[in-house]
Amino acid sequence: MIKWHDLAFYRGDKLILDSVSGQLAKGELVLLSGINGSGKTTLLNLIGGALLPSSGTLTLNGKELQEIRIQDQAKIRSIAPQNRTFNMGFKVRELLNLQPANRKALSTDEIIEELGVVEILDSSILELSLGQQQKVSLAITLIQEADFYLLDEPFSAQDATSVRRILRLLQEVAKTKGLMVVSHNTDHLDANFDREIKLS
Ligand SMILES: Nc1ncnc2c1ncn2[C@@H]1O[C@H](COP(=O)(O)OP(=O)(O)OP(=O)(O)O)[C@@H](O)[C@H]1O
Ligand SMILES: [Mg+2]
Repeated sequence: MIKWHDLAFYRGDKLILDSVSGQLAKGELVLLSGINGSGKTTLLNLIGGALLPSSGTLTLNGKELQEIRIQDQAKIRSIAPQNRTFNMGFKVRELLNLQPANRKALSTDEIIEELGVVEILDSSILELSLGQQQKVSLAITLIQEADFYLLDEPFSAQDATSVRRILRLLQEVAKTKGLMVVSHNTDHLDANFDREIKLS
């Protein structure tokens, strides 16, 4: 379980998140919504340990985040950032092989097949479209062994067919894992999720 309670986050004297509480359990697919600037990415960065809360508590599987070694944190949650920057021309195949490949919800083959990444395995990541790079980023995150997956705007560069395929894949993964998916555009999406957390 990932739990955040009464979390507040300031940048300087600007309050970005004010007393936010929530949780993510295994077996659920949760939509995290809110308008631009409402703090969705900030919340994921706090859960990811890239930012430290100004106050409040954040626990992963019952332990305070700061008490868990970074290597162990990575086994608990895997995050797909809103913008993953690729700056070296690795082939997609090489990028995916860098990830551990054991004890996942789905096999690597199933993940890359469902995401439509199989056809681009031998392409240089730098020569792919934004939507294709986003699919690779999602594959990198989902291939990592973890209990929870947090995906920041995974649909933002996807066409309608890809959105449907990705949703199907996420529903499959959520049978055994916990998933939280950030989206600022929830039209037609919410019916695919078990519940919605709204930031305002
Ligand atoms: N690096 C930064 N420096 C200063 N302020 C920041 C920084 N990153 C975000 N903020 C501020 O924090 C607030 C929340 O930003 P955040 O990126 O979490 O929003 P979001 O809900 O993810 O928005 P979006 O839908 O546009 O992705 C915004 O008001 C933003 O201006
Ligand atoms: Mg964001």
